[in-house]
Amino acid sequence: MNINVSQPDSRLVLTGLDIVDLTRFRGALQRHPRLRERLFSSEELAYADGRRDPVVHLAARFAAKEAVGKLLGTGVTSWKDICVESRGGAPSVRLLGRAAQRADTLRLGPVALSLSHTATIAMAGAVALILDSKESWEAV
Ligand SMILES: CC(C)(COP(=O)(O)OP(=O)(O)OC[C@H]1O[C@@H](n2cnc3c(N)ncnc32)[C@H](O)[C@@H]1OP(=O)(O)O)[C@@H](O)C(=O)NCCC(=O)NCCS
Repeated sequence: MNINVSQPDSRLVLTGLDIVDLTRFRGALQRHPRLRERLFSSEELAYADGRRDPVVHLAARFAAKEAVGKLLGTGVTSWKDICVESRGGAPSVRLLGRAAQRADTLRLGPVALSLSHTATIAMAGAVALILDSKESWEAV
């Protein structure tokens, strides 16, 4: 990303957004029974499996991983390196492995996440601030 840093004290907001088509996602899970375990942490699976239609909540978490991958600028390097935690109220993001390393390189603050779903789509938006440092700007 080319950014002209005209104000040395400015902060950069990183964002990521993703939309998942529920019909396609449901079909993929049905065709590939092991996909669930490849994509999601045990906590994410347990949360979704406790809901009336788990696929809706898994699709939102899949969108969240893609959205955070976009925010990080690397895409999703490993599905389980970006985990959605849901303990009531707004969901939060836990970064592990290469995603956490990337966040460190960027000197990224906490990633704020918002999920939404309808009968046909699930979506996620992620926002985070990076601190003002030469290394961070060069890494974006
Ligand atoms: C929570 C609320 C924002 C969800 O909005 P919605 O239009 O029903 O549903 P959406 O599909 O857009 O969003 C669902 C996601 O919102 C997220 N969410 C839940 N509570 C949230 C909160 N307090 N803040 C931010 N996000 C929240 C969840 O991640 C959920 O996804 P998940 O079920 O897969 O975990 C909405 O119901 C609300 O405003 N509730 C406040 C009032 C309330 O709690 N009423 C309950 C009365 S019993």
